[in-house]
Parts: sequence; C-alpha cells; structure tokens
Amino acid sequence: MAQPTLNIVILAAGKGTRMHSNTPKVLHQVGGKAILAHVIECAKALNPKKIIVVYGYGGETVRETFANETIIWVNQAEQLGTGHAVQQAAPYLDAEAQTLVLLGDVPLVDVDACRNLLAQATDKLAILSFNKPDPTGYGRIVRATSGNVTAIVEHKDATETHRQIIEVNTGMMAMPNAQLTQWLSQLTNNNAQGEYYLTDIVALAVQQGTKVVAEITPDEWSVTGINSKSDLAQIERTYQTRTAQKLMQQGVTLKDPARLDVRGNLNCGRDVEIDVNCVFEGNVTLGDYVTIGPNCVIKNANIKAGAKIAPFTHIEDAEVGDNSRIGPYARLRPGTVLQNETHIGNFVELKNAQVDSGSKVNHLSYVGDAVVGKNVNIGAGTITCNYDGANKFQTVIEDNAFIGSDSQLIAPVTIGKGATIAAGSTITKNAPADALTFCRAKEQKTILGWQRPVKQKK
Ligand code: UD1
Ligand code: CA
Repeated sequence: MAQPTLNIVILAAGKGTRMHSNTPKVLHQVGGKAILAHVIECAKALNPKKIIVVYGYGGETVRETFANETIIWVNQAEQLGTGHAVQQAAPYLDAEAQTLVLLGDVPLVDVDACRNLLAQATDKLAILSFNKPDPTGYGRIVRATSGNVTAIVEHKDATETHRQIIEVNTGMMAMPNAQLTQWLSQLTNNNAQGEYYLTDIVALAVQQGTKVVAEITPDEWSVTGINSKSDLAQIERTYQTRTAQKLMQQGVTLKDPARLDVRGNLNCGRDVEIDVNCVFEGNVTLGDYVTIGPNCVIKNANIKAGAKIAPFTHIEDAEVGDNSRIGPYARLRPGTVLQNETHIGNFVELKNAQVDSGSKVNHLSYVGDAVVGKNVNIGAGTITCNYDGANKFQTVIEDNAFIGSDSQLIAPVTIGKGATIAAGSTITKNAPADALTFCRAKEQKTILGWQRPVKQKK
C-alpha cells in the first residue's frame, strides 16, 4: 500500500534557557550544521508534502537561517505546551494526510525510525519510546497488562507507581490527521504544569478506539535532545564518532577515529588515509589515494587523486590537482587552483593563484593573485607583491620560468616563458622569455679588516 501524504511538524519554540546563550537553541551547531538543520534534513529525506516548523524564541533569526528551505513557519508566541504547539500547526495540516511530529532539538534523529513510525501510523497512533534507567523528567509510557499502550503520564503528574516505569516518550510520534485534529481540539491544561500536553492524545486515542503502538528504539542518542552546552558537546562527539564509522565502512583509513572532526560533508574516494587531528569543514572531496597528514584544517576543497597533504596544512576554497604534494605547513587560501603534480612546500601561502602542472613553490613564499604556468620553479622566499596598499594586481609567470630565491615580483608583471630571474631580484618590469633578468645592488662590496661590533660594558 502506498504511504499517504505526509505532513511533518517540527517543534522548535522552546527557549533553551539552559544554553545560556543569545543564539536560539536550535541554531547551535552539531557537525558544523545547526541542530534544526539536521532535523530538517531528516524530514526532507521522508519526502513530505509540508514541513511545518513551530518557532518562538529568536524566531526571525531561525527563519532567516533557513530562508532557502520550503518551510511553513508557525509562530507560537506563548509556549503553552507541546499540544498547544501542534495546535498552532493544525490549520496547515492536510485532511487526508498523516503527521509526523519531530523535535527541533534532537539532531541525531533517525530517518529509518521515522519511516517505521509512519508505516504504523496509517491507522494508528505510533509513538517512539526508549528505555531510560533514570527516567526522571520524561513522560512515562503506560501499558496495560496486555502490553497495549493506554496513556503517557508526564513525570510531574505521575504517581509513584508510574514513576517506576522506565519506558519513556521521546516526543516523536505519527498519526493520521483526521484523528489528530480531533484530539487536538479536545486537549485541556488540567495538569501539574498547566500546559496543553501533546501526550494527552494517547488517552484520547484509546478512548476513541484508535490503536496506539509504542516502538522502543535501542538508540538513545537518536532521540536525545539538547538542553545544555554539555549535551551539545556529548552529541557532537557522538555525531563525530558515527561520521568516522561511516567513513571507515566506506573504506577510508582513519589513524584514530576519535581524532577526526567533520563539520560539513566529507566525500572520499577509495584508499583515502587521514591521520589524526584533522578538521574538515563545508564541502570537502578527497579523491582516490589521497593522504592527509596530522593536524590539517581543510574547508570547501577538492583534493584530487593521489595528492598528499603533509601535516599542519590549511586549505580553504581551493582545488589541488592529481598527485600534488602540499605542506607541511602550507596555506592554500581562497581561489587557489593547483593542477596536477604541483609541489607546495613549507611556509608557503597561496591566494587566488592558479598554478599549472608540474610547478613547484617549495619554501617560504607568498604567491597571490598569480597565474603560474607549467613546470615553473619558484625559489625560496619569493614574494608576489600584489598589493600597493590600495589595489591588487596580477603576476603572470609563464611555463618553465625559474624564479631565483628571495625575489620580489612587483605586480602587475609578467615573467616570460623559460625566463630566469636571478636570486635577490626586485622585478618591476616584464621579464622577457628565455633570458636571465636580474636587478640587484650595482656592485658587491667587500670591506677588508672590518671589525664586528663588541658588547659595551655597563
Ligand atoms: C516532552 C514530552 C515528554 C517527553 C519529553 C522528551 C509532552 C507534554 N511531554 O516533555 O513526554 O518524554 O518531551 O524530551 O509533550 N515545545 C514547543 N512549544 C511548547 C513546548 C515545547 O515548541 O509550548 C517544543 C520544545 O522546543 C522542544 C519540545 O517541544 O523541542 C519538547 O519540549 P520540552 O519542554 O522539552 O518537553 P518536556 O516537558 O521535556
Ligand atoms: Ca525536554
């Protein structure tokens, strides 16, 4: 049977007081993405007709963060409970559809568990529950001796007997809209907290003869909400551990899965090796046989097959060609595009530099706003002087050029094909192809019998 149309309601109006932050709780990040972004990602994977987010505190910032998503935003100005929150979404629910309720502060929410609930919720109320040895604070799943779920009792309203129950409500549930809208209209706030509890729909369902099922998930992390910075740190670690496991399942070698941080999306080819303490941000692609040394920070980069990134290298918004060797201690800044088999060595900074295949910048150089041809050798300490304090200019270095150490190339300037620049030159005019160009102090002087200064007595 085909699944009915799906509406997803994400509850995200809570203040998050215990975060002690000016940032709305659901905008704090796990794995480089907002907590709510993880929930929305899960929701989208379920192919819903509508995603409705109930927001409150910090609403505008939350909405702006997801301006590119197709979301129905519903403001819950006063937070009168989870039932009240879903009531605010009721006008947008499709009569023939089913609804899945998710919580905006549970980033590791599991798509398969949601699918499971939805498969049950064609004619039932399906609840996701879990067993919590210390269930304090949670709504308890009350079952009859038959095992059938009869109610959810909130901790503050629970009797001593109910408080012994360790099966608790995760807050995620699914049901047909026809019943949901009816139940919502019957909620009252006659309870210890004076709130409209969504969980009261369980007893209403039982009264009206709708079957209720609670599915116990063994994966507590996938239902854990974030309420504090300590929760955030624990979830972050769990997320990272799971990301590392997935990478290893795909064949990536991680020297230590506990010392990897992926804050975005990391796509790896075959036989990729990543050493310890690397941070990947944004979208990073590593081609087949790429190796990343320890302590690298790599953001929005495409590193192609066979490239070796040595320790302590920073790469951002850049591309590295096949079989290139980068680092240790190299910095590739935005706009850098390296073709195949380039070598970028220690303490070299490249910015907006296009370097063609086989070229080398091995030591202590700054190459910015530059176009470098094939098989160029840029000697130690070379600087492209691209900035006059007001404007930036380009340096062009053509194929097979050789730049002697400690040269300054004052842009705009072109070094012709096969040109050689003598070490220590300050080049202000274009250097012709296939010739030696140098620009140093006119003569080399020697002072014979020169005495070094001596330290003066105090
Ligand atoms: C709720 C459940 C409880 C469950 C627990 C799991 C109810 C009455 N209780 O309890 O059974 O064990 O979650 O964590 O549903 N929210 C709103 N608007 C509101 C109130 C809450 O949007 O007016 C949102 C919060 O932002 C949060 C979620 O709903 O994402 C749950 O709210 P919370 O206050 O944490 O619920 P609990 O009382 O802990
Ligand atoms: Ca809670």
